[in-house]
Amino acid sequence: MAKVKNSNHLSGKEVRRIAKDNKKVIKRLEAYKNRKADESEYLSAMRDSANILEIEDLHSYFFTEQGVVKAVNGVSFDIPKNATVGVVGESGCGKSVTSMSVMRLLQGPAGQIYSGEIRFAAKEKSGEEKVYDIAKMPIRDIHKVRGSQIAMIFQEPMTSLNPVFTIGQQLDEVTFIHNPGATKEEAKAKSIEMLNLVGIAIPERVYNSFPHELSGGMRQRVMISMALASDPRLIIADEPTTALDVTIQAQILDLLRDLKTKIDGSIMLITHDLGIIAEMADYVVVMYAGRVIEKGTVQEIFHNPLHPYTIGLQKSKPTLDSDSDTLFNIPGNVPNPINMPNYCYFKERCASCTAKCAGDYPGMIQVSPTHFVACHLYDEDTKNG
Ligand SMILES: Nc1ncnc2c1ncn2[C@@H]1O[C@H](COP(=O)(O)OP(=O)(O)O)[C@@H](O)[C@H]1O
Ligand code: SF4
Ligand SMILES: [Mg+2]
Repeated sequence: MAKVKNSNHLSGKEVRRIAKDNKKVIKRLEAYKNRKADESEYLSAMRDSANILEIEDLHSYFFTEQGVVKAVNGVSFDIPKNATVGVVGESGCGKSVTSMSVMRLLQGPAGQIYSGEIRFAAKEKSGEEKVYDIAKMPIRDIHKVRGSQIAMIFQEPMTSLNPVFTIGQQLDEVTFIHNPGATKEEAKAKSIEMLNLVGIAIPERVYNSFPHELSGGMRQRVMISMALASDPRLIIADEPTTALDVTIQAQILDLLRDLKTKIDGSIMLITHDLGIIAEMADYVVVMYAGRVIEKGTVQEIFHNPLHPYTIGLQKSKPTLDSDSDTLFNIPGNVPNPINMPNYCYFKERCASCTAKCAGDYPGMIQVSPTHFVACHLYDEDTKNG
């Protein structure tokens, strides 16, 4: 019988080669993360001073036994000041890995920022701005931005709250971190004020509760109040309402919208729900298999979607009883992240594909000052030919 080669099967030799290669790269990246560096090494400048965050050609990888998973594979987008940017795409496309990279929360040694820039305009106490390239910051300096200038709200607040401490103890702790001289009474007053701000009617009761005593919606409010305690300039909310039921979802989104005004800052809102994007975002970034395939203002993406994937997303109508990802009912599969092809990753699912699509991965084409698309249909020579 002829031997059939299973493409998923790795020989012992291949496994050893992967392990050796991984070890070498991880060692270099870990040393870079753990180095001591003068601030001047990671000071940078914004391309456009109207932006608070500029992500440029970010590559974040997981070095696994099977090979390198290029979870984020050359992502670039901006977050303007006072704007909400929605990042959308189906499960596994790299949304969370992008946000974890900005927060420098990727789990090493396997998860690493491999290359690229994450420029963030931090505000000094004096009111002056200082631009840091977060990707180059030693991990020991990350407190300059993480949890202070940039706060994150996760999908499942239960995993971010400590079950053995009361909400009050955890909220007070945030105040002590940012204001080490505060008294117990001052910290409590600040915590109660924060709980009030996120619309909690009886803050004293929540203050004395343990996380498991609260509903999911209430826990998410607490997480938002915690994120706010440090006056962040940027809030990253990763599927903040996915675990909540529909009426609570709407309340939490209203709250986020209010807060953006209150903190006079920006929001990066990650979701697979186009309805939420339409309602909340000023700009939209559409991701597919670790890359940005289209980005623009919310009007451009909803009224003039160009990429066949974005067009497909808009056509697939969500139903009330559908669970999370049935929204993405475009048939076909995403390529294996360890072995991405050189051509367009959407090719196997694309109904508009032409001969050109078997060639190189399409470059980003600018179609308006704010609208960009990565698809051969919009190449100059395709349009003219
Ligand atoms: N710890 C990990 N080890 C290996 N691969 C990972 C790990 N975490 C995430 N990935 C991979 O990274 C890709 C992007 O994941 P993620 O950013 O979580 O997607 P999502 O868009 O759903 O938030 C996926 O292919 C996922 O399998
Ligand atoms: S580049 Fe080709 S295969 Fe890819 S989305 Fe555009 S038309 Fe489809
Ligand atoms: Mg995610």
